[in-house]
This record gives sequence, structure tokens and C-alpha cells, in this order.
Amino acid sequence: MKIGAPKEIFENEKRVAMTPQSAALLQKRGYDCVVETGAGLGAGISDADYKDAGVEVVKTGAALWKAVDIVIKVRAPEPIEVKRFTTGQTLISFIWPAQSEELLEELRAKDVTTIAMDMVPRISRAQKMDALSSMANIGGYRAVIEAGNNFGRFFTGQITAAGKVPPAKVLIVGAGVAGLAAIGTATSLGAITYAFDVRPEVAEQIESMGAEFVYLDFDEEQADGAATGGYAPVSSPEFREKQLEKFRELAPDMDIVITTALIPGRDAPKLWLEDMVLAMKSGSVVIDLAAEKGGNCDLTVMDEKVVSKNGVTIIGYTDFPSRMAAQSSMLYANNIRHMMDDLTPEKDGVPVQNMEDDVIRSATVTHAGEITFPPPPLKIQAIAAQKPKPVEKSAEQIKADEIAALKAAGAKQTGILVAGGLLMLLLGLFAPVSFMQHFIVFVLAVFIGFQVIWKVSHALHTPLMAITNAISGIIIVGALLQISGGGWFVSLLAGISVLIATINIVGGFMVTRRMLAMFQRS
Ligand code: NAI
Repeated sequence: MKIGAPKEIFENEKRVAMTPQSAALLQKRGYDCVVETGAGLGAGISDADYKDAGVEVVKTGAALWKAVDIVIKVRAPEPIEVKRFTTGQTLISFIWPAQSEELLEELRAKDVTTIAMDMVPRISRAQKMDALSSMANIGGYRAVIEAGNNFGRFFTGQITAAGKVPPAKVLIVGAGVAGLAAIGTATSLGAITYAFDVRPEVAEQIESMGAEFVYLDFDEEQADGAATGGYAPVSSPEFREKQLEKFRELAPDMDIVITTALIPGRDAPKLWLEDMVLAMKSGSVVIDLAAEKGGNCDLTVMDEKVVSKNGVTIIGYTDFPSRMAAQSSMLYANNIRHMMDDLTPEKDGVPVQNMEDDVIRSATVTHAGEITFPPPPLKIQAIAAQKPKPVEKSAEQIKADEIAALKAAGAKQTGILVAGGLLMLLLGLFAPVSFMQHFIVFVLAVFIGFQVIWKVSHALHTPLMAITNAISGIIIVGALLQISGGGWFVSLLAGISVLIATINIVGGFMVTRRMLAMFQRS
């Protein structure tokens, strides 16, 4: 079958749903790929790039619709595009079905199978197709870059000959996908980053990224989002008041505020109020990522940049992913390619609309002449049989176990020594004296050599290390043999040899341990 991406006609939309890389992988799944001329220009991809990847380039959108069985897009189709669909075609795109009843009805009437990329559930199996997360990740990153572009100072603190520059202070409100991307970007640019979320379970994640979690002195059971499938529950008015109080306290100190707070299916909560903007220093920046859902900031104007009367810039753009079209097209095209992988289990270029598959079912909003939105709740995942937890031991028990293990090891060693000794005695009864002398030296050499070489950590089992220890071992054996015969001078030299060789071996082990510790995370 043929799959094709038209040029997006939504104003200023620069993304494209197919890249030469994704086309190559779609071809491996048995599809022929088509694009409309100029479809990739906004993302820096020329028609020639597509042609080099074996993609057919057609002259118009209308021609593309005629040529393909599956249309892949970024933005939901405009009315002129809807008209071009014919019965039995498939559309894969962002759709926002909850707000697009009319569109769904038109697509149903044309018997189009519609897969909404914004309906892919946020479950681990579907992560590779989760276009909302890919775009939110870019949105969070770009929000910091946009903030930097409008902020007249460095993010990182510097001490220069011309003067000392303090680091910027950044507050991220809402640590979901976009928020975490923003935290990562702000900390890596050197800003002192603070973050707040109503889900306390994200605190550890925030702190592991080098930001500081803003704790509220408030006990509220409902602040635990784990009970609601990872999404935030609606906060109580008391919690919200406490949150606003904290933000009011932080506002004069913050240079950049990035808000991403959202509860799915609701308008964005108002969290950065006018008085907080007015409390910020002139030149500060607020980026409101939730602008499309009404904004988290009182002063946000959707799709615009406004400056408050005290000189704070407030940005409410809703097209951050499109402002990084090369990156977002690459990730979005990959999300679609993964969706096609799941739709084409036989790799034969023929999609199978398996409505038993949780992910395909959730994303399909029209199929077989019916509107299939909203999807049923996800099937309950079989919970992997939990491994029985090891019984927790007390410190005394652990100590007692260790002593018992040491005793057992000691008894084993004694047993081996006694058995070895008896064997020697037995041999000594029959073997000639000269043989016994050499044999004992041989046994000692094997024993010491084994001890010193075997205990070198595998990571450092280099020939050099092994040979050094082996040589030291041989020196010790030789010196021990000389220590009691041949006069005081020989004994002295033998003693010094034993001492130095022992220092070499023991020191080697200590250095090894230290070196290994350098690579271990505590
Ligand atoms: P998400 O659902 O992963 O994260 C939202 C976070 O807000 C959650 O961690 C939630 O716990 C938190 N939250 C909810 N209520 C809160 C409150 N009262 N106080 C503090 N935190 C609260 O959503 P995701 O994917 O990170 O997207 C965030 C927002 O960014 C959405 O509104 C999305 O539409 C928008 N977005 C905007 C873009 C743009 O170009 N402007 C691009 C991509 C995403």
C-alpha cells in the first residue's frame, strides 16, 4: 500500500509527518512512500532528500490524496483536506477528538479509518508512539531556550574581569513531560532551578536532575497522584491557597518562570497570578506552556508575547514544537513509523486494524463507518506475579549470619589443611627426601600463587598485575626457604625480601580496591 505525507497547510506549521529516515523504515514494512512537493522544507528536508530515500514526490496535495491509501499528517485536516478523502482511506494525525465532533462525523461519513496520535495511551508499551510526550519534551526544551532569548542575562553565574554575574533563578511549575524537559535544560545551562508539582512522588526525579523541589508545608492525602494513574488529582482550595502563598514568596526572587501545570480534560489552573507577575523584577520572563488550555498565568495571551507594566515578558506561544521543526518532525515521524510497525505485523505493507490491541483501539477514533471515540478504558494489565519479598533481617541477625559464614569457611579451610597435611605425611613415609623437598616448595608456590593471583579483581586482571603478584609470590617462597639457613646476613636479606614483596602484594590489593571504588556509585 501507499502511505503519504502532504505539506501542512495550517498557518506557520513547519513540521512534516514523514522524514527520509522514517520513509526508509516504512519501506521495510512493505509500504511505498509519497510526499507532496515542499512538504519537508520547513523542517529543512528538500524534495531531493526524499527522492534519495526512494520517496515519490507529487506536485499537489490533491494528487497526494489520490495516490495514497494512508495519509499521515501533523495537524488535524482542514475542511479542504477532509473533502479529498475517499472511502476506505486511513488518516493518522493529531485529531483532538474531544474537541472535534464535526470532523469525526465527516470522516466517519466518508468511511475513513482515523488514528489520532493524541489518543495514544501513556502506557510503557506505547511510549515509542507517544507523540504527545515527544512534542511536550520539545516544548519544555524550547520554552527554556525561548526564555533565554527574552532574558537579557546569562543562565549560569560567572566571575569575569568585568564583574560578577549571578546565576539566573528558574521556577518550573508542573513537572510532567514538558516540565522535566525544561528542568533538564535549565539546570544544564547553569541556572539555579526550582520546581513544583502537586504530585510529591516526582520530588525525587526533580532532585536527581539537579533542581530543588519546592515543598509545601501542607498535609493533604489527595496530593498523592499515584492513586489516579500518575496524573494529578484536583487540589483542594486550601492546598491551592498554600501553593499560591509559596509562589508569592518566591516571585520577587525568580528570573524565569515556566508553567506547564495541567490536569487532563480540564482548563489549566491559574497559578501565577497578576500580583506575582507584578512582584517579579523587570526583565524577568514567564513562559506559559499551558496557554492553549487557558494558561497558568493571569496575564497570558495565547500565541502572543506581552510585556507587563513592570517589564516582565509573558509568552503564550502554542507552537513550540513547530519552532523546532527539524527535531519535532524527526520524533513525530518516528512515532508514526512505530504506529505503522504495530499496524503491520506481517511487514507486508498491509495495515491490520486490530481493535483488540489496547493501543490501536484507544487511538482509533473512526473505523468501519463508526465513530469509535471515546475508547473503552484500557484492559486491566495482568500484574506480573510479584516475587516474594526477602524477609528483612535485623542488624543482630545479619551479624550472626556473618559469624556463622566465617566459621563455616574457617572449618572448611581447616579441613583442607588437615587433609593436605595427612597426605604429605603419607607421601613422606614412602617418597625419597629430595622429592619431598621439591614437592613442598611446589605446593607452597601453587598455594601462594593461587592466593595472590585469584584475588585480583577481574576488572584489573591484566597480565602485568598477575605477573607482578606472581613474582612477589615467588620471592616470598624463595625468601622463606632461606630465612632459617645460611647465617644472619642471609636471614636479614630474606626477611627484607618477604617484607617488600608483602608490601607489594598487599599494597596492590589496596590500590585496586581504591581504583574500583572510584567507579562505584554510592
Ligand atoms: P503532563 O500531564 O505530563 O504534566 C502536567 C503536570 O502538571 C503534571 O505533572 C501535573 O502533576 C502538574 N500539575 C497539575 N496541576 C498542578 C498544579 N495545580 N500545580 C502544579 N503542578 C500541577 O503534561 P505535559 O505533556 O508535560 O504538558 C504540559 C503542558 O504543556 C500542556 O498544557 C501541554 O498542552 C503544553 N504543551 C505546550 C506546548 C506549546 O507549544 N505551548 C508544546 C507541548 C506541550
